[in-house]
Amino acid sequence: MKQVSRSIVLIGMMGAGKSSVGRCLSGRTGLALLDTDEMVASEFGISIPEIFSEHGERKFREAETEALRSVKGTQQTIIVTGGGIVLSEQNVEILKRLGVLVWLDGEEQTLFARASRKRNRPLLQTKNPREAFSRIMRARRPLYANIAHIRIDTSMLTDEEVVVAILSKLRRANPQPGLPVQATAR
Ligand code: S3P
Repeated sequence: MKQVSRSIVLIGMMGAGKSSVGRCLSGRTGLALLDTDEMVASEFGISIPEIFSEHGERKFREAETEALRSVKGTQQTIIVTGGGIVLSEQNVEILKRLGVLVWLDGEEQTLFARASRKRNRPLLQTKNPREAFSRIMRARRPLYANIAHIRIDTSMLTDEEVVVAILSKLRRANPQPGLPVQATAR
């Protein structure tokens, strides 16, 4: 097996806590934080909901892939992704090269409650957001499961507890002192 020093990439559904856990993880490890949604929003100069409504999902997805492509694989970082990043095979290939893929999972009802709190998720702006969420989650769970190195059920955990769980799983996978996110490639 190849020993490589890599980034921690957070994947998972809307509402899984990727952004807040990413911030927490960055604070804990001292590693810089990159967020593909933020990169896309800053590229367009408008918010994600505005990108969806003014340019459509396809343009958003293209920009998301570009954002991912622009991430330097040479620097170890915390990378937060949008929930739909796993929809493209091209993205999946890039993600696998970038680092350890940590899937923040959880009970559907809990994730939905968190995701709908802000009312800003374009994919939930439908007549029946609960049904839309369920459909999206059913379609995506196998995609996350296929590529994740680590899965954390976040349903009952605070962000801090999720971070502790991630770091302890990483340490268990690769107990090398001094390297916060060294991990073994699979
Ligand atoms: C999306 C999730 C969002 C954002 C966009 C599309 C998705 O990010 O990328 O609205 O397809 O699930 P979060 O997962 O941070 O909500």
